[in-house]
Amino acid sequence: MKGVILAGGLGSRLFPLTKVTNKHLLPVYNKPMIFYPLQTLVDAGITEIMLVTGGNNAGDFLRLLGNGSEFGLHDINYTYQVGEGGIAEALKLAEHFAKGDKIVVILGDNIIEGNIIKAVRAFEKQRKGAMILLKEVQDPERFGVAVFKGKRVVKILEKPKKPPSPYAVTGIYFYDNEVFSIAKKLKPSARGELEITDVNNAYIARGTLRHQVLNGWWTDAGTFESLHRANDLVAHGGANKRCL
Ligand code: G1P
Repeated sequence: MKGVILAGGLGSRLFPLTKVTNKHLLPVYNKPMIFYPLQTLVDAGITEIMLVTGGNNAGDFLRLLGNGSEFGLHDINYTYQVGEGGIAEALKLAEHFAKGDKIVVILGDNIIEGNIIKAVRAFEKQRKGAMILLKEVQDPERFGVAVFKGKRVVKILEKPKKPPSPYAVTGIYFYDNEVFSIAKKLKPSARGELEITDVNNAYIARGTLRHQVLNGWWTDAGTFESLHRANDLVAHGGANKRCL
């Protein structure tokens, strides 16, 4: 399985912090944000990794990460997203990298306490389709939210005003190669982006989306509040102890 880290976007919810740098290069406690999702993939045994970035500071990722040798990697693949087309748009750039393999996708601002190795193993065994990782949160309205029928996820709603469950869809997704044909058929949402939630709903419609609940704490870091929380969790909550 190959890994894709999505680290593009303007980070406009963090202006003015992101006026002169990319959100994923901002510090989270003692490391740049991008270190955490990268370490999450490495800890799960993923060695072939592509980083999708964009904006004016893309070159800084190369300066910071190089070939990933500090993470024990042989190399890192980089690609560039022009404009602000959303997560699913960024994903399309990874098609030639995936070359038919399954992929695990992680959003560059998602930080977890534990590891995803069990999920990686489970998805290796899954014959086809997709898998998402859910986490019970107190503010589901900020995320994609799972709608359940019994134990099955029957729909995902993107940032619903009245969340149908407390289960947020984290920014860690597992896909087979169908993801690229699904992403190509998407239409932009009201915020003008190709939404990852629409990708996941397409898998639900095909009956091939599975889910697991993530152990340990999870946070995004794309708003002032969540960035502050991420700093606090990493400093005091024990994230990625083995991170460089
Ligand atoms: C994105 C997804 C959302 C998901 C979240 C996880 O939201 O659209 O479904 O729950 O990442 O971090 P965004 O950060 O683009 O608002």
